[in-house]
Amino acid sequence: MKAPIGVIDSGVGGLTVAKEIMRHLPNEEIIYIGDTARCPYGPRSSEEVRKFTWQLATALAKMNIKMLVIACNTATAVALNSLSKKMPFPVIGVIFPGARAAIKATKKNEIVVLGTSGTIKSGAYEEAIAALNTSSKVIPLACPTFVPLVESNEYEGEFARNMVMETLLPLKKEQFDTVILGCTHYPLLQKHIEEAVGPHVKVLSSAEETAQDVNEYLDYHHMHHPIEEKKTPVFYTTGSVPIFKTIVEKWLELQNADVRTISFK
Ligand code: DGL
Repeated sequence: MKAPIGVIDSGVGGLTVAKEIMRHLPNEEIIYIGDTARCPYGPRSSEEVRKFTWQLATALAKMNIKMLVIACNTATAVALNSLSKKMPFPVIGVIFPGARAAIKATKKNEIVVLGTSGTIKSGAYEEAIAALNTSSKVIPLACPTFVPLVESNEYEGEFARNMVMETLLPLKKEQFDTVILGCTHYPLLQKHIEEAVGPHVKVLSSAEETAQDVNEYLDYHHMHHPIEEKKTPVFYTTGSVPIFKTIVEKWLELQNADVRTISFK
């Protein structure tokens, strides 16, 4: 099928998911929208996040996508159900794939979920994990300072390390063997998170598992893009094009990425 796959996020974080989709499905055409101007979604009300997510999805619907990937945990938590019901194409979120990866990985059935305040408040991971395995214990922890660390490009140094150590202190008294990075930005802090939880704990992101879901769906429904029609990805941002372009090119290892502006009211 010749149509593109739409990928949306509150900003740059969903590029971690887009990267895996592009790695697994190099022949697919990708259109990405990052709502950088209104990022972060994490501390916003669910009504507001739902409204913004619908705006991004509607813009992509007008670009005739064949599938939508909500590459944002906060947006998946509040808008996946309504979008799946109403949009004329399949909609895939990142929470169920993340939950499934954790269930596969855990031996003790004790899973920590790290996420934004919005995601943790929604209980969406608990719900997805319970649907897969009712005996799993879930320990949710909101990490509101992590997204600003990544957005301000401060995720590599000592300051970030200390912030991660301090935020994850409440986990010291808990038993668990698996951590889900339930936010698109957290894979960039993975090194510090792994150090904080110790070497015997598996730290997983849903990006790869989501890309596999996309692949399986396209396979099953014979919706893969014909190889000869391959196009370069297009990235839209509601914020600064030069900043977004720099990040896209660095994270996705692309040269001269096609980054454009888009706006919503
Ligand atoms: N993309 C968001 C998520 O995965 C993180 C950034 C935000 O709060 O908007 O939850």
